[in-house]
Amino acid sequence: MFSVKYWCNPWKNTWSTFGKRVGCSWTFGCSCHHAQGSLSKKKQRTATSHLRRKKVPCQSVLDHFDQQYRLELGDLWTSARAVLLNPDFWQYGVMLNRFTAVSDLRRTLKTQGFFSVRLQTEESSAPPTQPCLKQPEGNGPMSTAECITKGLSDDSNLQTDCGSHCLQSELSESPLLQCYIHPYPQRFPSQAHRPSCLKQYYLLNAASLLPVLALQVKNGENILDLCSAPGGKAIAIMQSCNPALLCCNEPDPHRRDWLAKTLESFLPPSVNSCVIVSAQDGRYFGQSEPSKYDKVLVDAPCSNDRSWLYSPGGQQGEQRLRERAMLPALQTQLLKSALSAVCRGGTVVYSTCTLSRAENCSVVEAVLNDCPEAELEDLWEELAVSFSKHFCFSHDQKAPLQSGTIAPCDSRLGILVVPHPGKTWGPMFVSRIRRKL
Ligand SMILES: C[S@@+](CC[C@H](N)C(=O)[O-])C[C@H]1O[C@@H](n2cnc3c(N)ncnc32)[C@H](O)[C@@H]1O
Repeated sequence: MFSVKYWCNPWKNTWSTFGKRVGCSWTFGCSCHHAQGSLSKKKQRTATSHLRRKKVPCQSVLDHFDQQYRLELGDLWTSARAVLLNPDFWQYGVMLNRFTAVSDLRRTLKTQGFFSVRLQTEESSAPPTQPCLKQPEGNGPMSTAECITKGLSDDSNLQTDCGSHCLQSELSESPLLQCYIHPYPQRFPSQAHRPSCLKQYYLLNAASLLPVLALQVKNGENILDLCSAPGGKAIAIMQSCNPALLCCNEPDPHRRDWLAKTLESFLPPSVNSCVIVSAQDGRYFGQSEPSKYDKVLVDAPCSNDRSWLYSPGGQQGEQRLRERAMLPALQTQLLKSALSAVCRGGTVVYSTCTLSRAENCSVVEAVLNDCPEAELEDLWEELAVSFSKHFCFSHDQKAPLQSGTIAPCDSRLGILVVPHPGKTWGPMFVSRIRRKL
């Protein structure tokens, strides 16, 4: 019953002709009210103002990136730089929410020129086992419902026609991670948070689904999302399987509120008992919950190149660059903690959204050197080769070196998506480590 009317003077440009976006407006209908309303004047102003506002890159961050990434990436930095400095050309993915009715949305997306990326690997599309069996124990972390009722909204609101109807009809189906992308920088409107209505889709950088695919989650597993806010990957995990438990951890209180709101917006009350929110410092999870999880995702705090490049004012950029040097130590501790929290034979996926070698390969290398029970898994064939049509991956170690560059990161340590004209996704680094039996 989803109904979207979306008129957008789409990009008049392609990668070869740099044109101008002319204007964009839409009305938006929500299936749960079976009504269609237009955006308020204020919202329309907000919706169109981003078209006028030009993002200004922070010069000190750009200089720093130029210095580091020219050495680390050579020519790939030239094309990544061109993409990062042109936000008008960024692509956006639309991840569908399987807990809502999405047939009309699919049609709308196709009409707009979006197409579905085949994301399900054989592992992740295994038939359902027993979904959502375990309840959170004792004084453990808050459940989504608890978290939500403690301040965000009344989760009973979710049991409106949208929640209950879609839940019955669609939850019984096999989990399915569905993402639509557009060959050009066509932006789909975001959906506003409505306490009584589940959202039908989540807008994201499609490369951020790679860590979730690498995790190969299965029904009935215990999964830890160690650094979870704002919750995009947690939602992707819930699209991919019916876990026994998904623990979403976020120590920062403001970001945890954001996470809770995301969970509330995308998940029906019936899965509340298997999705819990925790507030620990991830570095100590391995001690507090040793060997408890089948899978752990460490989507680590990092220097987020896309957003750092647009740090407002010179000061914030410089402050971030000072803090950058401290990140690898924190990331290493988080990854080690994850390896203790995962059971023997279980896997940990480490990911960042930076191109920085110090935060990617070097962190993985340090952990492998320190943890004899850690065994690296090669993602090149499984993900880089499979998705090379959509994403640009950095050269592997066999690529010829240019003079003036340093040895490229060994792609066996992890795969790196580098933004590239026409494939603007990333940056995204993904590595998978198994804890030996
Ligand atoms: C890259 S973001 C995670 C994005 C999230 N996985 C998603 O897909 O929406 C990293 C998160 O790690 C959190 N973080 C920072 N320090 C942490 C720590 N010591 N333990 C756990 N999480 C931490 C940050 O607050 C931030 O929300």
